[in-house]
Formats: sequence, structure tokens, C-alpha cells
Amino acid sequence: MYIELKNINKSFGNFKASQDVSFGVEKGKLVALLGPSGSGKTTILRMLAGLEHQDGGDIYIDGKLVNDVSVQDREIGFVFQSYALFPYLTVAGNIAYGMKIKKKSRQEIEEKVKYLLNLVGLPGLESRYPDQLSGGQRQRVAFARALATEPQLLLLDEPFAAIDAKVRKELRRWLKELIEEVGVTSIFVTHDQDEAVEVADELIITNEGRVEQIGTPFDIYRNPKTPFVAQFIGESVILRDYEYEKIRGYKKQEGASSAAIRPEFVKVVPADSDVEYPNGYMDGVVAHADFRGSNLELTVEVNGLELKAEYVLDEKGLKKGDPVKVFVSRLYTFDEKNAYTVINSSLQTGEIYYI
Ligand SMILES: Nc1ncnc2c1ncn2[C@@H]1O[C@H](COP(=O)(O)OP(=O)(O)OP(=O)(O)O)[C@@H](O)[C@H]1O
Ligand SMILES: [Mg+2]
Repeated sequence: MYIELKNINKSFGNFKASQDVSFGVEKGKLVALLGPSGSGKTTILRMLAGLEHQDGGDIYIDGKLVNDVSVQDREIGFVFQSYALFPYLTVAGNIAYGMKIKKKSRQEIEEKVKYLLNLVGLPGLESRYPDQLSGGQRQRVAFARALATEPQLLLLDEPFAAIDAKVRKELRRWLKELIEEVGVTSIFVTHDQDEAVEVADELIITNEGRVEQIGTPFDIYRNPKTPFVAQFIGESVILRDYEYEKIRGYKKQEGASSAAIRPEFVKVVPADSDVEYPNGYMDGVVAHADFRGSNLELTVEVNGLELKAEYVLDEKGLKKGDPVKVFVSRLYTFDEKNAYTVINSSLQTGEIYYI
């Protein structure tokens, strides 16, 4: 592992901002720290950078214990959400800042600024000031500045938070390619699931100062391991008190009284449709149908439960009051500690099975 955090604890007064945080990042990987506001993501980055000191536990970079290594000597590049650039310096001045501190020659600096501006797709903007750039351009310059001193590790704290949705989407694709090209190990903080899934090789899910789960986006999405992750990922409907027993294809699982059901695993078809697994379908009725461009966001009533589903719009569509058939292909049950992936038994040869 290139980066390793071992049993990190950090409190602010009585408040535990990091609780026994351990994870590793392989060289050249781009991992995302994903979790709700206040879950301790920035605190982890600041300790990695050396801006904050942990109360206990060890941090290793490239096999070296860095607990007592200063910020300057950790060779880390940063990009933060806002105030990323010095407003009184030009683009070139901003990018050159770290190199000047490192006493690089004038010629080296000029060449590097040029190279980096090309790399981030902004050639020729050397003499502009930050307030003469768009938000997206500013963040690109911030990346160039972070890369200028050839850091071994790049820390990105919600770098696109202040940028509007469309540009943000372009930027994250761009960032992923840039990081692959440069090959720098990077940790990206976000509370946006879509962003994390699209950008990162691996996700580290944080909650209340703890690491809940580590895995590829696919793993975490398909098989959440904790109650928190089961509820946090996706847009789930949560059922309590074994209500999921009312869904055809699922049996009571002693101890796991709650379940999270995501719309993408709820299939809804008009009541007169032919279906592939008739044993697994229930009769229901459309309670709400909200238009979302290419699809409908449905709320359906089945066996006294309200479930959410996506429905790809066809010629007829569906509207409130329409009778439907409903099939739940998978759901996540959970107890106090663990979450379990359960597949509809009609997709199996009998028994419900657990992954
Ligand atoms: N210097 C500090 N003094 C006191 N409390 C702090 C300090 N820094 C962070 N905290 C607290 O620690 C907790 C974790 O903060 P942190 O900034 O790491 O969260 P985050 O996951 O980055 O949240 P966000 O998504 O909102 O940026 C918060 O409750 C915060 O109020
Ligand atoms: Mg933060």
C-alpha cells in the first residue's frame, strides 16, 4: 500500500471526529471518501496532509511513518472546494507559487507553467487573474498549481462543489483522465454519490467518524455490508418491523427486521402484461407518477406498502390509479450491525440465498 492509515483517532474536545480509521490506498489509484456532511472526511485529509495531528494511530506514506513529518515535507498537492487560488496573483503566478518556494529556476518555472496549462486544457491564459476565469477554469488552474511541485499524493476536497451541475460532470471525467495520465495517487472527498462512483477506482464510505465499508463502486452498490451503507447508497425506501415479509419472494430473516429497497430493483408493468416470473409478481396500483424526462418515477401501493420504482416511458405510460404488477428483484435487509443482500426467491430454484 502506498498510503496507509492505521487505527487513527481524532477528537475535537469531546467530539470524536475520527474513530479507529484504517485504510490503505495503492500507488496510482484514485479513491473517494464518500459520506454525509460531518462524517469526518476533511479531518482525514487534513491529518494526511499534516495540517492536523491525530491523537492516536499511524500514517504511512510510501512505507514511511510520517506522524512527525511536517506539511512541507510530505510532498502533497491539494485542491479545495473554494478560495482555491490567490486572487492577487495571475494564473502563472498561482501555478508557480510552490515552485518558487522550492527555489526552482526561472526557466524551469516558465516551462512547467506552460506544460501544466496545456495539460489542464487552458493554454495561453498565463496572465489572467482568477476573477477573469469561470469557476471551472479556476478549478483547472487549481489542479495545475497542485501538480506543479510533482506531489506524490494529491488530496482533493470537494473540488467541484461550487460548480454548476453540467460543468461539474465534464470536469469529473476530465479529472479522472488527468489523474490517469499523470499517474499520481489521489484521494477525492465528496458527498455526491454519482460523482464518487464515476470518478473513483475505490470508495471509502465514512459515517460518524468511522469507516463503514471499503470497496469498488460496483461492490458497494450491489452489496452494502452495513445498515448505514444500505440506506445511504441509492434512493431507498426503508421498511421496518419485518414489513418486507409482505413482498412476494422474501421470507422473514430472524433479527434483520428492516429492509432497504431501491427503485432500480422494483419492476412495474401494466396489469395486463405478460411477465417472465409470474410467481414473483404482486398486484398493485399506481399511487403517484412523476414525470422525469425519459422515465416516470412511480410510487406504487402493494400489499399495504408504498414502494418507489422507475418506469421507462413507453407509448401508453402509466398514471395514478392504474393497476400494475410489481416485482422486487432484490432488497437489502439489515439488523443493528450488518446488511444482507437478498434476491427474490422466484429467481432462484427455491431457497432464498445470500451473497
Ligand atoms: N477544528 C475543529 N474544531 C472542532 N470541531 C471540528 C473541527 N474540525 C472539524 N470538526 C468537527 O468534526 C466533524 C467532522 O468534520 P469534517 O470537516 O471532517 O466533516 P466532513 O465529512 O468533511 O463534512 P462536510 O461534508 O460537511 O465537509 C464535524 O462535526 C466538525 O464540526
Ligand atoms: Mg469536508
